[in-house]
Amino acid sequence: TKAPVTVTVTGAAGTIGYAALFRVAAGAMLGHDQPVHLRLLELPAALGAAEGIAMELDDCALPQLASVEIFDDPRAAFDGVQQALLIGAKPRTKGMERADLLSANAAVFAEQGKVLGEVAADDVRITVVGNPANTNAAIAARHAPDIPRSRFSALTRLDHNRAIAQLARRAEVPVTAISGVTIWGNHSATQYPDIFHVRAGELSGEALATDRAWLVDDFIPTVAQRGSAIIAARGASSAASAANGTIDHVQDWALGTAGDGWTSAAIVSPGVYGVPEGLVCSFPVRSDGTDWEIVEGLEINDFSRARIDASVAELQAEIAAVDAL
Ligand code: NAI
Repeated sequence: TKAPVTVTVTGAAGTIGYAALFRVAAGAMLGHDQPVHLRLLELPAALGAAEGIAMELDDCALPQLASVEIFDDPRAAFDGVQQALLIGAKPRTKGMERADLLSANAAVFAEQGKVLGEVAADDVRITVVGNPANTNAAIAARHAPDIPRSRFSALTRLDHNRAIAQLARRAEVPVTAISGVTIWGNHSATQYPDIFHVRAGELSGEALATDRAWLVDDFIPTVAQRGSAIIAARGASSAASAANGTIDHVQDWALGTAGDGWTSAAIVSPGVYGVPEGLVCSFPVRSDGTDWEIVEGLEINDFSRARIDASVAELQAEIAAVDAL
């Protein structure tokens, strides 16, 4: 049998945490033959709720769940961690400016990055879900100089999956017939879902994009503003689909992406596709089971270029706002 993998989930008692933990413990993320040690990190006020989740995890009698532990101290929670899912973040409260949100979270992710650098396992992989996810990941990476940059990522897989679902509906094909989607930029309303390299069954993305009104007024805003649409409909933010995206992301990273296809993830830019080095930007990526690798050489047309540049400008402004404070 395999040695257990240590997985730490921050914000474990939140809505995404609750939707993610049971599937992680059941083997949906790292494989049904892979035992896991689960570590739940929460704020002191939510430790009771985390205890309740740990009781429910026990009650599933899951064969691959080697242990569950609860922490309010990041240093203990991250000690020896191999997969860190950083879901917990400070929410935006009434009257809070975006700069306040950025700086409040920068402080949290600077501290978590520093601690990860000190105590995480040598093979640690870090996935930031808590918003503003890209900039939080960039800040964590900066504060962990001993962890290779390639180990930090932020989640845009939910956006990627949203784009696949919309394309499948438009092309009237199953989701399995869609490939070649890319989310570029920030996990925010400026993100750019690029369909110009898509295959949708018999159709090409180029062909779908000839209907510019659909692309500009329907597809792109539907994907980019899906989070708000779900809040409006459900009265709560997307949690199960965000948990699902997180699991897909880590699964592809840790077990590898299939064939020559790709997915989307926000990773530290090495300075390709006109994205300045050091920004955590969403790219087309594949994994061999160890590191994300950016799919290079895709042609970027003027339509795409302008939209990628706008989202990258927002990422630069976020980092600048944090640096100014
Ligand atoms: P939630 O508010 O239900 O749960 C957040 C949990 O994190 C709370 O239990 C809180 O006590 C905990 N927490 C806060 N700061 C913490 C810290 N420093 N250490 C440990 N725990 C901490 O929120 P929800 O719905 O679970 O969302 C979590 C985050 O994920 C939010 O920032 C949200 O905006 C973001 N999100 C990101 C998506 C993406 O695609 N990247 C998609 C959907 C949500």
